[in-house]
Amino acid sequence: MKQVLVTGGAGYIGTHTCVELMAQGYSPVVVDNFCNSSPASLDRVRRLTNHELPSYEADIRDTAQIIEILKKHDCESVIHFAGLKAVGDSVAKPLEYYSANVMGSHSLLTAMMEAGTKRFVFSSSATVYGEPVFLPYTESHPLSPTSPYGQTKLAVEQMLNDLVASGSMTDVAILRYFNPIGAHASGQIGEDPHGVPNNLMPYVAQVAVGRRTELNVFGNDYDTPDGTGVRDYLHVVDLARAHVLALQRFEREPGAITVNLGTGQGTSVLELVKAFKEASGRDVPVNFAPRRSGDIAAFWADPSQAESLLGWQAEYDISDMCRDQWAWQSQNPNGFETA
Ligand SMILES: NC(=O)c1ccc[n+]([C@@H]2O[C@H](COP(=O)([O-])OP(=O)(O)OC[C@H]3O[C@@H](n4cnc5c(N)ncnc54)[C@H](O)[C@@H]3O)[C@@H](O)[C@H]2O)c1
Repeated sequence: MKQVLVTGGAGYIGTHTCVELMAQGYSPVVVDNFCNSSPASLDRVRRLTNHELPSYEADIRDTAQIIEILKKHDCESVIHFAGLKAVGDSVAKPLEYYSANVMGSHSLLTAMMEAGTKRFVFSSSATVYGEPVFLPYTESHPLSPTSPYGQTKLAVEQMLNDLVASGSMTDVAILRYFNPIGAHASGQIGEDPHGVPNNLMPYVAQVAVGRRTELNVFGNDYDTPDGTGVRDYLHVVDLARAHVLALQRFEREPGAITVNLGTGQGTSVLELVKAFKEASGRDVPVNFAPRRSGDIAAFWADPSQAESLLGWQAEYDISDMCRDQWAWQSQNPNGFETA
C-alpha cells in the first residue's frame, strides 16, 4: 500500500481527496488540528469508503510529532492542505496566517527531510496572481498577491522552488486552485465552514436551506456581463482527482511542476445563484452591497498545462456542482453536526 500523509485531511478538499486516494489504491494518513474541521468529517469518509483511515490530532508546526507520524506509517509522499484560507481574515490577522501557512509548511518540509519523505503536493491558489495583467491566467502570469493569504501561498511556492534547486527535493507539484465548490455526489461529505461562510457557494447553499435570510452580493457595477464578479468554479471531486494524478505522475516522471486547476470558464455570481436555484428548487434572495476592497472583478484559468502534465481535465460543470452542493446541504443542513 502506498501511504500518503494528508495534512488538513479533515477539511473540505482534504476529505474529498482521501476518498479519491483510496479509490486509486493509496492509503491516506490524516494529520489535522481541527481548527476549521472536526473528527466527524473523517468518520464520514470511513463510512463512505468502508476503508481504514488513520488520523492524528496534531499541528503541522509540531515538527517532532510529524516526523514520528511520517516514520511510523512509512509515508512516501505528503499532500499538504493544512492552513488558514480566509482572505479577509488574513488582512486582519497576518501573523496567524504566516505562522500557520509559512511556518507550518517549513516545519512540515523539515520533518519530511528528517523522515526521508521526498514527494510533495502543495495546495496553492490563484490568489498568487493578483490583479490580472492578462486573462486567462497562465502559470507564467506575473505573481503579485493582493492579500497576506496570497503572500503566504507565494512564500511557500518560493520555498519549494528553492528546495528543488538545492536538490533536497525533486518531486514537487504546486497546484494553483481556482474556486472549488460542490461536494461528493453521495451528499455525505462537503464544505462545513465554522461560523459565517467566507466563500460564496456555502453561503448560497445556507440561504437556500433557510439557515440565512439573504445573500449579500458585493458589487454589481464591475465591468463584467452582469456587473457581478466572475470566477472559475471547479468541482471539488475534479480537484481531488488532480492530487491523485500528481502522485501518479511522480511514479512515472519525477520532477517539479506548477499547474493551474480550473475549468477555464468564468461564471458570475448571478449566474451561479441562478444555477443553484434551478438545482435546489429553492429561492435565494439577493441583496446588492458595495464592492469589497481588494476584490478582483473577474479571473479564470488557462488549465491546459494541467492537461498536458497531469492528463487532468475538469469533468463536471456548474449544474453538477450545484446539484452535489445541494445534496450535501439538504441532507446536512447543519453540516457534520446534523447526524
Ligand atoms: N477552498 C478554497 O477555495 C481554496 C482555494 C485555493 C487554495 N485552497 C487551499 O487548499 C487547502 C485546503 O483548503 P480547504 O478549503 O479544504 O480548507 P479547510 O479549512 O476546510 O481545510 C484545512 C484543514 O487544515 C486544518 N489545519 C489548519 N491549520 C492547521 C495546522 N496548523 N495544523 C494542522 N491542521 C491544520 C484545518 O483544521 C482544516 O481541517 C488550504 O491550504 C487552502 O489555502 C483552498
